[in-house]
Amino acid sequence: MASRSSTGGYDPSGIDLDAWTVLEAELEATIPHYDRVNRLMTFGQDRRWRASVAAHAEPGMSVLEVGCGPGSFAETIRGVDLTCLDPSPEMLRVARKRVDAARSAHGEAPASYVEALAESIPLPDASFDRVFCLFSFRDFQDKKKGLEEIFRVLKPGGRLVICDAGKGSWVHGFAGRLWMGTVVQWMARRVTGTRDHPWRGLARSYTHYGTNRYYRRMLRDVGFTSVRGRLLWPFLMASRFVGERPK
Ligand SMILES: C[S@@+](CC[C@H](N)C(=O)[O-])C[C@H]1O[C@@H](n2cnc3c(N)ncnc32)[C@H](O)[C@@H]1O
Repeated sequence: MASRSSTGGYDPSGIDLDAWTVLEAELEATIPHYDRVNRLMTFGQDRRWRASVAAHAEPGMSVLEVGCGPGSFAETIRGVDLTCLDPSPEMLRVARKRVDAARSAHGEAPASYVEALAESIPLPDASFDRVFCLFSFRDFQDKKKGLEEIFRVLKPGGRLVICDAGKGSWVHGFAGRLWMGTVVQWMARRVTGTRDHPWRGLARSYTHYGTNRYYRRMLRDVGFTSVRGRLLWPFLMASRFVGERPK
């Protein structure tokens, strides 16, 4: 594995604190345009991916979303007892407004909100039927530690579903880097109206993200069973991983 200092603080296992602090500021700066750029850069597939993750939950389940961001996924999931976790107070502020408005419109109680890192979840063991991570796993400082914490808060028999950028192999990753470094930059420039937009930095986190095989192995090392992880059709831009905490 490459030393993080030679890659500006990144490697497939995680991100150094200095680089993560910069990345976090870039993520916060995406908030006003986040959904629009996502929709464009995925040709609208992000909605389908979110729905496919939500389909893993059944009515009445307790669900934790780790890295809820501005609430783009959390506002869409119905019929569950929802907890949204994110280290960014600004993300949580925006998410709370959106998510609770959507829940209230459907006659549901507000969600719970927790300001924390995946690597240190201030919640009791075995409390959730499902943990979902959508486009946040890539940003963890220490991916294995984050997975260990998620494993701890899942009930025995509970399930983790991760949806994030796809990297089937390093060759596929090279194509993804070209996409992130060119078309996505152009789209973000058009939407934000500035050259100095935060998607410039976000391409870095994709560059140093690992392959599906790498994270399937990490999930098994942490103790997850029935581990799956594959690219999603039709554009192979995202991957979905599933793992279960044994009963
Ligand atoms: C791109 S947003 C994801 C938003 C949302 N989940 C969605 O469906 O689009 C990534 C989020 O991950 C959060 N994040 C970054 N590092 C994290 C960590 N170590 N633990 C938990 N969340 C983290 C960021 O604060 C950010 O809000």
